[in-house]
Amino acid sequence: MRARTAVIPAAGLGTRFYPVTKAVPKELLPVVDVPALQLILDEAVGAGCDRIVLVSSRAKPGLENYVTPDPKVVAKLRDQGRDDVADRLAAIGTDVRVDICHQEEPRGLGHAVGCARQLVGDEPFALLLPDELRGDPGLLSMLADSCERTGVSAIELKRVPMDEVSAYGVITPSASSPADGPFEIEGIVEKPRREDAPSDLIILGRYVLTPDIFGHIDELKPHPNGELQLTDAMLAQSRVKPILGHLTTTERWDTGTPFGWLTAVVDNALRRPDTGPQLRAWLRDRLG
Ligand code: G1P
Repeated sequence: MRARTAVIPAAGLGTRFYPVTKAVPKELLPVVDVPALQLILDEAVGAGCDRIVLVSSRAKPGLENYVTPDPKVVAKLRDQGRDDVADRLAAIGTDVRVDICHQEEPRGLGHAVGCARQLVGDEPFALLLPDELRGDPGLLSMLADSCERTGVSAIELKRVPMDEVSAYGVITPSASSPADGPFEIEGIVEKPRREDAPSDLIILGRYVLTPDIFGHIDELKPHPNGELQLTDAMLAQSRVKPILGHLTTTERWDTGTPFGWLTAVVDNALRRPDTGPQLRAWLRDRLG
């Protein structure tokens, strides 16, 4: 079966982005005039998902407000003859079903995914970490195809310089894996020190997981910081059946930090016909 539900864990408080995230959920920060969350929803829908499970926090009611249809505002815009904006607003929360569940305390990615269990049910599902934006849904679609074809979880991997590995989950590929993947995953460690890292292959923010992952999440023991790590559940899953890691080179913006977000805004604005030419001219003038 192909994944049709996308889980988006969005309960984090965005401390790397304070002070703005004191009041505005980081997923609602604008990429030009579209919140990052909308780009994530579009990616999931583009990869074939027709249902979203948003794992939110009660401290972030703005997320729920954003995905709740608002027919009154849409009608008012139509009265004013502003059909183009009305069409865009009317699509939010109606072009795809969005269910919300709450993660009551920040207890790590494994815990956040576990919160979605009842809403996902017994089906493979996509997992999109909203701190990362992608140019298109191709990668997620490829992972969903892989999972459908093989019946096992499929994740995205990237080779990075060893200096960067300690911010990520890092895998050990099986010796029999082809040099350019897909890699059968033999081991995973979460944020190892550079000298302890088993490889230069890191896990990024797109996954398609089979539902038996929830049983492994139930068994998780917290790390010293109190968090339940998804990578521990994936390691347990990989001991029962394979997980396939696909090397990707997809374009990606890390919007969890102010600089990464800025690059996403500039790149996206440069590509849009309504803002690109003007921004390009302004930048040329500014940069001399
Ligand atoms: C999470 C995962 C980590 C993964 C990373 C990708 O970490 O725990 O395994 O490599 O996302 O961005 P976080 O960035 O939430 O600390």
